[in-house]
Amino acid sequence: MTNIWSSATLLCVLTLILEVTDVLTVSKPIERACVIGAGYSGLAVARYLQEYGVNYTVFEASRHVGGTWRFDPHVGTDEDGLPLFTSMYKNLRTNTPRHTMEFSGFPFPEDTPSYPTGTCFYKYLKLFTKKFDLIKFIQLRSYVTSIKRANDRWNVTYMRTDTRDNHTEECDFVVVSTGEYSNPVWPKFEGQSTFKGNIIHSHDYKEPEAYTNRRVLLVGAGPSGLDLAIHLSNITSKLVHSHHLTYNQPDFSDSYIKKPDIKSFTTSGVIFQDDTYEDVDDVIFCTGYELALPFLDENTGVTKTGKFVLPLYQDIVNIRYPTMAFVGISKKIINRVLDAQAQYTALLAAGKFELPHQNDMLKTWLSRAHALQARGKRIVDINAIGEAMDQYFGNLTREAGVTRAPPVLTEIRDFNAVNRLEDLMNYREYDYYITDEYHFARSYNPRMGVPCPIDIE
Ligand SMILES: Cc1cc2nc3c(=O)[nH]c(=O)nc-3n(C[C@H](O)[C@H](O)[C@H](O)COP(=O)(O)OP(=O)(O)OC[C@H]3O[C@@H](n4cnc5c(N)ncnc54)[C@H](O)[C@@H]3O)c2cc1C
Ligand SMILES: *[C@@H]1O[C@H](CO)[C@@H](O)[C@H](O)[C@H]1NC(C)=O
Ligand SMILES: *[C@@H]1O[C@H](CO)[C@@H](O)[C@H](O)[C@H]1NC(C)=O
Ligand SMILES: *[C@@H]1O[C@H](CO)[C@@H](O)[C@H](O)[C@H]1NC(C)=O
Ligand SMILES: *[C@@H]1O[C@H](CO)[C@@H](O)[C@H](O)[C@H]1NC(C)=O
Ligand SMILES: *[C@@H]1O[C@H](CO)[C@@H](O)[C@H](O)[C@H]1NC(C)=O
Repeated sequence: MTNIWSSATLLCVLTLILEVTDVLTVSKPIERACVIGAGYSGLAVARYLQEYGVNYTVFEASRHVGGTWRFDPHVGTDEDGLPLFTSMYKNLRTNTPRHTMEFSGFPFPEDTPSYPTGTCFYKYLKLFTKKFDLIKFIQLRSYVTSIKRANDRWNVTYMRTDTRDNHTEECDFVVVSTGEYSNPVWPKFEGQSTFKGNIIHSHDYKEPEAYTNRRVLLVGAGPSGLDLAIHLSNITSKLVHSHHLTYNQPDFSDSYIKKPDIKSFTTSGVIFQDDTYEDVDDVIFCTGYELALPFLDENTGVTKTGKFVLPLYQDIVNIRYPTMAFVGISKKIINRVLDAQAQYTALLAAGKFELPHQNDMLKTWLSRAHALQARGKRIVDINAIGEAMDQYFGNLTREAGVTRAPPVLTEIRDFNAVNRLEDLMNYREYDYYITDEYHFARSYNPRMGVPCPIDIE
């Protein structure tokens, strides 16, 4: 079966086609835009809405801006009893050069290492908030529980975490920028419930000290799995790492043991697919995240699962109701894509360009889905931009006038993705220099422990 469509998806798309045929994109002035979430994406949207003179409010659940870049010592729920959205841990350094992560026109101070710490990136976000004076339009402690189509507008309902009161506000335009790395994926293995040790997800991992002289199993070798292997290998008495990534494995400590995927748990340890066994005290599932958009009412006209949202024009605009935009749903991208999507969204809200007719947006989307199929991908990959990233930047610029991100950023992204797996222990010890629009250079310059040049409270 090579068809990428599940019958449910097909049904949804057909219904949509039938519904939109005689609806026109009516561009009327936006009286008010509402943005959900004040992480990197929401802050970028706010900056551009402000620049284009759109009246807006950002609703942020927590007491803070910065999203996942803010370290929070709470586990599971935050100080207000809300689910903790940040997945940050201590000692994190970015796994991508900062040049690919900077907001357009807002570089880090020049002496910042190319791979700053998580703390430094958080300071950068706070500096951005201050520089563009965004805080007065950000309503903190406002946890959005529902977004619903009502009278040709959007009803956004949120709970204030101080009073626990619920409020509904009407918005002409709504931007969903609630992040995609907050909701952990938990695998289930045979015997797991009988295991007597501790099991957590990397979402809840905070610092290495808790694992001193313990026998620890890490599951997965995505960015978190590889990072935690580095952070924990010299601290644990034994570090078992179960994964199936092919890469240039560095010399971790002598107590590091590579294993294949898990077969089952026993009360005191784990049996692997090769039938070997290891005793362990603690397990950390570094098994990634799923989308969670529980607040989207069914009448918003998008189909969502933990893996995708569809159909979105340019991976941003809700085709059914083009006054709803998503920033940060895309996969396999650099942060600069979030900035470009934010600018596109704000230009749209400000009426600075016009979308194609809905049928044409849908056709574009369908041809993208077919191209995906032709490349042997499946519908779950519909939000992955990946290798088409530079073309995507070009398209947003051509259609809406978004500031063109230079092709060199894609070059850096591609180089870093390979280099990281070839030289895991040292790849962050280089500094990058952009030499022109297409080229970069790098030089070895270990700066572990160099203080963040951004000084902000
Ligand atoms: C541990 C970790 C390390 C990472 N490292 C890198 C890296 O090195 N390089 C890189 O390019 N990318 C990295 N990323 C990706 C990272 O997600 C992006 O850099 C960026 O932070 C995404 O920003 P965002 O605003 O889309 O989402 P988030 O930062 O998750 O912000 C979402 C915001 O929405 C709020 N929110 C959520 N739900 C609601 C609601 N219902 N109502 C109101 N507010 C709500 C949250 O409180 C949060 O403030 C990393 C991610 C993680 C988790
Ligand atoms: C912005 O929107 C709010 C909420 O609808 C409204 O009270 C306010 O008057 C608007 N401001 C402007 C300048 O339009
Ligand atoms: C939308 O919100 C307004 C204001 O709170 C309310 O009067 C209206 O009934 C709501 N509509 C729907 C469909 O929920
Ligand atoms: C607000 O709504 C939430 C559900 O979203 C509910 O649990 C809570 O009790 C409501 N608060 C009040 C004061 O009604
Ligand atoms: C672990 O310790 C050894 C010896 O001190 C050191 O060479 C190595 O770099 C350390 N590894 C990590 C990942 O910190
Ligand atoms: C960019 O636009 C071209 C022409 O419309 C289209 O063929 C291509 O698929 C688009 N690429 C991306 C990544 O959106």
